[in-house]
Amino acid sequence: MITPREAALSIRGLQKSFTGQPVYSGFDLDVKRGDILAIFGPNGCGKSTLINMAAGLLEADGGTILYDGRTVREVRIGYVFQNYREALFPWSRAAENIRYPLRRMGLGKREIEARVEKLAADFRVRFDLHRYPYELSGGQQQLVSVMRALAVEPEVLFLDEPFSALDYETTLDLRALLQDVLKRLGVTTILVSHDLEESIFLADRLLMLTRRPTMLADDVTVDLPWPRDSDTLSTPGFVALKKRCLDVFTASVAAA
Ligand SMILES: Nc1ncnc2c1ncn2[C@@H]1O[C@H](COP(=O)(O)OP(=O)(O)OP(=O)(O)O)[C@@H](O)[C@H]1O
Ligand SMILES: [Mg+2]
Repeated sequence: MITPREAALSIRGLQKSFTGQPVYSGFDLDVKRGDILAIFGPNGCGKSTLINMAAGLLEADGGTILYDGRTVREVRIGYVFQNYREALFPWSRAAENIRYPLRRMGLGKREIEARVEKLAADFRVRFDLHRYPYELSGGQQQLVSVMRALAVEPEVLFLDEPFSALDYETTLDLRALLQDVLKRLGVTTILVSHDLEESIFLADRLLMLTRRPTMLADDVTVDLPWPRDSDTLSTPGFVALKKRCLDVFTASVAAA
C-alpha cells in the first residue's frame, strides 16, 4: 500500500466523457515520488487523455488530481508529446527550443546556458544544437524534446509514446539514455507506451488499461534491477513479467 505521504500523484474519482461516451468513470491512481510509471493499453483506451488531465492540458469532468495536495498549476511539469514533428518550434534552433521554457521561467542567461550544457552532456549529444529541427533526424528531434522537458527541472515528467515514430536502433539508444538520466534525477515519470517490452524495460511499475470505459486490467511491480540493458530483455525475471502481462492482455484487454 502507498501511504499518502509518499504519493506524489493522487487521482481520485476521475471522470471524463467525450460526446457523452465515458472514457473514465471513477478512476483512482497513486504514483509514488520518483517512480517511473508506464501506462500500457490499446489504441483509443484513454492513455493520452489520462496524462493530459494529469498534466493540466485537459480539463477533467470530475474527480481530483493532486500532487502532495497541490494542483497541477502549483507543480513544475515536463511534457514530451506523442508527435515529435509537431512538438518543436520549427523556426527556432534546437538549443533555442530548449532555452524557451527557461526564459519563460525568468532564469538568467548564465543559468540557462549551464542547464543546456548539462543536458547535452547527460544525453551525450553529438549533433549540433545550433541546427534547426528540420535539419535533425527524428531521433535527434525527439531527444531535443526530452531535453526541453527536463530543462525546467520538473517534479513530474510526462512522456506520451516518445519512441513510437522512431526506428528500433534509435529507440534502444534513446531509452537507455532516458533510463540513465531519469534514475539519476529521481523525477516522478509517467510514460505512455503501447510497446509492452518498452513499458517493462523502463518502468518501476506498469499499469495495464482495458478498452473503454477504461479500467485497470493489472498493476504490475517491475522489480528488475537497474541499470537495465539489452541483456535484461532475456533474463528470467523479464521474460516472466512479459508473459504475465501478455496473459492479462489476452484475457482482459484483447477480449473486452
Ligand atoms: N477531443 C476529443 N473529442 C472527442 N473524442 C476524443 C477526444 N480526445 C479523445 N477522444 C476519444 O477518447 C478516447 C481516448 O483517446 P486517447 O487519445 O486518450 O487514447 P489513447 O489511449 O492515447 O490512444 P492512442 O494509443 O491511439 O494514442 C478515444 O476513443 C478518442 O477517440
Ligand atoms: Mg495517445
